[in-house]
Order: sequence, then C-alpha cells, then structure tokens
Amino acid sequence: MTSDFNPEKTVIAPHGGRLVDRRVPAGERGALLQKARSLPKVRLNGLQASDAEMIAIGAFSPLEGFMGQADYREVVHHMRLAGGLPWSMPVTLAVDEATARGVRDGQEVALEDEEGRFLGSMTVRERYTYDKGEQARLVYGTTEEAHPGVANLHAQGPVMLGGPIQYVGVPREDLPFLEYRLEPVETRRKFHELGWKTVVGFQTRNPVHRAHEYIQKCAMEMVDGLLLHPLVGATKGDDIPADVRMRCYQVLLERYYPKNRVLLSVNPAFMRYAGPREAIFHALVRKNYGCSHFIVGRDHAGVGNYYGTYDAQHIFSEFKPSELGIQPLMFENSFFCKACGSMGTAKTCPHDSSHHVFLSGTQVRAILSRGEMPPAEFSRPEVALALAEAYRQR
Ligand code: ADX
Repeated sequence: MTSDFNPEKTVIAPHGGRLVDRRVPAGERGALLQKARSLPKVRLNGLQASDAEMIAIGAFSPLEGFMGQADYREVVHHMRLAGGLPWSMPVTLAVDEATARGVRDGQEVALEDEEGRFLGSMTVRERYTYDKGEQARLVYGTTEEAHPGVANLHAQGPVMLGGPIQYVGVPREDLPFLEYRLEPVETRRKFHELGWKTVVGFQTRNPVHRAHEYIQKCAMEMVDGLLLHPLVGATKGDDIPADVRMRCYQVLLERYYPKNRVLLSVNPAFMRYAGPREAIFHALVRKNYGCSHFIVGRDHAGVGNYYGTYDAQHIFSEFKPSELGIQPLMFENSFFCKACGSMGTAKTCPHDSSHHVFLSGTQVRAILSRGEMPPAEFSRPEVALALAEAYRQR
C-alpha cells in the first residue's frame, strides 16, 4: 500500500503545492559543520529555533526560510505572502543591531540554538527594520505588553534577517516526545497507510477536557480520522506543561477513542496567542501535515479578553475556501448540560446556563492547586487523575 506513496500527491496538497524540505542530507552535514566554523554566528532563541525546525520539516510550506521584507509586509498588512498566497503570521528572524551589522547581504551565517548547538545555516538575502507597534496592532490586535505575543515581539531585536535556511538541527534523540514527533511527510504517509481520505486536525495547548472530546468526536463522525496535534513548543508560563498534557491524551485515548481512527502526534511550534490570525495559521500548518479539515472552536488561540469568542471563526470568511485548501469545522461553545445529561451547545441544548458545567482554565488550575479534582462532567476521571497527580508532584 505504501509503494505508491507520494507525499505531495496525497488527498490534500501542501500549501503552495510543494512540501518544503530544508534539511541537509546526512552525508553533507559534516562538510556544512566544518564550513560553519568560519561563518558569522547567529544565535536563535527558543521561539526562533522552533520556527527553523517547522520551516525545515515543511510544516510551514511554502516558506523556505525566514521572511524577507516583501513577504513580511504583505503578511502583516494583508495576510498574504508577496506572491498572493494566504499566510497570516510573520515568521521572522529578528536580531540585535550588532548581529545585523556583522552580516553582509548575500552572506551565509551559522545558526545556533540558545545552548550554542549548531542548527544549520542561512543565506541572508536581506536585512530590514520593522515597526513593532504596527505589527502588534495589525497581527495581535493590541499593543498591550500584557499580551504574551506582543511581549515576545517587544523582547526581540530591531532588525530582521531574511533568507532560506539549510537545517541540521539537534540530534533527534535529544528532542522531547520523540515517538510522537511525526513530520508532515510522516503524518501524510500514515494517513495514506490507514486509507484515510479525510482527516480533521485538532490544535490544542490545554489539558483535554470533555468539550474538546465532544467537538473532536462530532468532527470524527464526518471524516475518516483525527490528527490530535497538541502544540508542544513554548507556551505562556501558567499554561499546563506539554508532558502533563500528553499524559492526559494517552489515558483518554486508551479508554475513550477507537484506536484506528486517531493519530496522536505533536506540533513543535510555539504559541503566538494571536487568536483569529493564528487560527488561519494553525489551519494552514495542519494542511501541510495532510489534514483536509481543521477544528476551530470558541476563542481559538485566544488569551485574556483580546478576541471575541468567535473572531477566529469569522476570519475564515476573508479567504476563498479554495485558496486556503483546508476546510474549517466550526464549533460553538460546548459544555456538559446536567438537564440533558450530555454534552451540547446552544445549538442543541434548550436549558439555561444554570444547568451547564463550564470551567475556565484559571478555575481548573485553582481546583488542582487545592489538591481537588475537576468534576466528571468537565473532565474524564482518568484525565482528572493524571492532572491531579502532576500537580501533587510539583
Ligand atoms: S488553543 O489556544 O489551542 O485554541 P485550547 O487547547 O483550549 O486552546 O483549544 C483547542 C481547540 O478547542 C480550539 O479550537 C478551541 O477553540 C476549542 N475549544 C476549547 N474549549 C472549547 C469549548 N468549551 N467549546 C468549544 N470549543 C472549544
């Protein structure tokens, strides 16, 4: 069944039509490492290193490197790459002035991670300055530094380096969640092997609760399979750590999902908390992983009160479905209704909110901090136990 597998000819094409691969072949790495010793060094912070990995493995196709000015400006102002393809988030390498001065346009530089490990190289095609206030306003909808995405923007350097990368990365064995770290070509191969023609992707940064399960299963009724794709890159400090969230998924899948209908894999990206813009971005990335559909629920990728509950759904109407090439499946705020005795939304439940069990992330964290467990209407007992256990060990 695998012999006729072509990662770009599976049911859903990568964004832009071609799955990017910027990894340096194993046989050429030694020579690149040797050459890198004499190149200027550019140190990437954790967020930039995560972007480099996402570019290299094709998760950000069609990007082949960090954005140049034409793409950057078009993305910030119009949610498109310079060639017109939809793209909603800047993917940029911002550095300090001294680093930018130490590089010439056209020059190759060595990329390192925060610990000084060699990640690969980049051909710097251009260096350009940008307006942080403008980016904050247009991309995040706010200039408040209390917004974690805006805070990251303010913490980064004032000059962008744009150009294609050649990626080596850290040894795979050093990567967390290795067995769940499938690259786009690998998820595409899996879907092909499983015979899935339609796959719904699910983005999450929070511990799984019953509303997540409900919308996933509603979606699963309509497609062949589910790609559970928790984001395991950097999140804001008070979000629950990825290893705890992964444990929750493992116990949930074991007990409540059919094995041959779900693929659990991790998304190594970091959270931008850009709400609607990030929903488009999340969808395009999952398209690259081979998904035909993508779940967008309430306040997708939101934080605080910066975005309206359904802004992340409305933004999809700003694009033609054919140019996105992945179909959003939108869900209303879901809850357990005690009067119905089941999960539902305002579309399916006639009872008022006094019957509904809904807890915010802050409320859940408070329950766990007291050494208690969230109620069974909110969280499956196995998941609640895994969360309580993680809190006890802290
Ligand atoms: S997110 O930042 O990754 O969006 P989270 O992990 O909480 O946060 O959400 C994952 C997905 O589930 C998102 O599409 C979100 O909109 C959706 N979602 C979360 N909670 C609910 C809910 N109670 N009702 C409907 N959709 C929800």
